[in-house]
Amino acid sequence: MADYKKPDYWQLKARKEGYPARSVYKLKEMDEKFGLLKPGRSGESLRVLDLGAAPGSWSLYVLRKMRGGVFLAAADISPLSRQYDGGLFNGDNFCFIQGDITDPAVRDSIIAHGPYHLIISDAAPATTGNRFIDTTRSLELAEAVAAYTESALKNGGNLVIKVFQGGDVSALLKHLKTLFKSAKGYKPEACRSESFETYYLALGKK
Ligand SMILES: C[S@@+](CC[C@H](N)C(=O)[O-])C[C@H]1O[C@@H](n2cnc3c(N)ncnc32)[C@H](O)[C@@H]1O
Repeated sequence: MADYKKPDYWQLKARKEGYPARSVYKLKEMDEKFGLLKPGRSGESLRVLDLGAAPGSWSLYVLRKMRGGVFLAAADISPLSRQYDGGLFNGDNFCFIQGDITDPAVRDSIIAHGPYHLIISDAAPATTGNRFIDTTRSLELAEAVAAYTESALKNGGNLVIKVFQGGDVSALLKHLKTLFKSAKGYKPEACRSESFETYYLALGKK
């Protein structure tokens, strides 16, 4: 069995580089491979939505890479860690909405800050160890994230969603293929090899 308590290569790297979670390297790899974070056209700020953002590594990656050229809205039930942000989470180009992204009031507030060019979601339910329960909850959450496409994503925009493999994930991918020019699964290097999480990348909202 894997020893999840011992910090691994990615956790140590994250601490050294000032990120609260190892998950930052999953976003970094997908960004480098698929060009997710690019300056907006004609000097326009890129508008990004980060769902399931706590403790905040993905948000910090976006703010550090894009500097002033981004407006970022982030949402999570839990608060963000302020250990490494160096004031970036106080900036005018950042807003954090604390709440459940499936709650209609939270949803309205998230939509009010849009529409976005890019939605990234690392949202995941707390795991129980029961694979059926965990994959079912993850799929429900991923479907709730996908539902933001219609109301909060600009035409031509991109979406990244985390899903636990299992259950009827193929139906979600099929649905994404109808909404976007392309949609496919991608498992970054920094996902533990034993982990059953993967990401769906949906590019070019129709
Ligand atoms: C793996 S963590 C995200 C890590 C984050 N991307 C980072 O780099 O720091 C998953 C997050 O999803 C959040 N989450 C799960 N269900 C949620 C929901 N219904 N609404 C909002 N956040 C949720 C959890 O609170 C948790 O913080």
